[in-house]
Amino acid sequence: MSAGAERVAQAGTVLEFDRVDLSFDVKVLDQVSFRVEPGETRVILGAAGSGKSVLLKAAIGLLRVDAGRVVLMGQDITRLEEKDLVAVRANVGVLFQEGGLFDSLTVGDNVAYPLENQQVRGAVPAEEVQRRVTEALRFVELEQTMDQYPAELSGGMRRRVGIARAVVTEPPLVLYDSPTAGLDPITANTIMALIAKERDAKGAASIIVTHRYQDGQIMADFRYNSERGGLIPAAADPSSAPRTIFMVMREGRIVFEGDKASLEASRDAYVRNFVRR
Ligand SMILES: Nc1ncnc2c1ncn2[C@@H]1O[C@H](COP(=O)(O)OP(=O)(O)O)[C@@H](O)[C@H]1O
Ligand SMILES: [Mg+2]
Repeated sequence: MSAGAERVAQAGTVLEFDRVDLSFDVKVLDQVSFRVEPGETRVILGAAGSGKSVLLKAAIGLLRVDAGRVVLMGQDITRLEEKDLVAVRANVGVLFQEGGLFDSLTVGDNVAYPLENQQVRGAVPAEEVQRRVTEALRFVELEQTMDQYPAELSGGMRRRVGIARAVVTEPPLVLYDSPTAGLDPITANTIMALIAKERDAKGAASIIVTHRYQDGQIMADFRYNSERGGLIPAAADPSSAPRTIFMVMREGRIVFEGDKASLEASRDAYVRNFVRR
């Protein structure tokens, strides 16, 4: 477990939504409640427009909720001021939809960005930044792209840089917004393998929002084995399998919450249709 993950394991629940409502012109989150415990993997399945990205933004206070409560790392952030939010947010790594890299910065500077701009835990010395950026890029097997610009990379490589940037501070919670959207199936599986590897190497809690059921299957059924340097079926060693909970969102409401077996056994027509895709 990373130092960050350990700190939070002691602190309790990583994220809690308590009857959260959020509207633009229409209601986008409708009485959303759930809790994420340390080290847990949470897979949120939902069709386009069901409110997945809005949920993640509300989780870190980028969007304010209209009713209910959001508690992040034990802190009620529902009405927290921006300057205090910045400190709480430093505990969260985010892979934004489409990667969200800065086009004008090199790959190395993109990955360094959270270290240099979330210095609430104290300034990180330059050589330490360099060391951690290199390590994060090595983790996603892109060390050689350090001095390139995002535009020079393929879509899958950009997504991997986004993962390196999300985890470079070793946060106890990592949010992945549609990590496989727009990628071919083989690249998508590579990305999911990296996300599972990160989870199993660091013990951080992860929230993955996606419309692809296979993404959730990888998280639930595989774990990273460092000796083999790849994923192995979690069933080979059930005691070490991380807890994976699924939620299904439909038009801003959570219509299912439970483990993979109960998801696959669901008789709800909407849920069933989703799992079969
Ligand atoms: N900033 C915004 N202003 C107005 N409507 C928004 C905004 N962000 C999202 N929405 C609407 O909220 C709904 C959910 O969006 P989103 O969370 O992005 O869906 P998805 O599940 O595809 O990630 C959509 O109908 C979207 O149009
Ligand atoms: Mg989205």
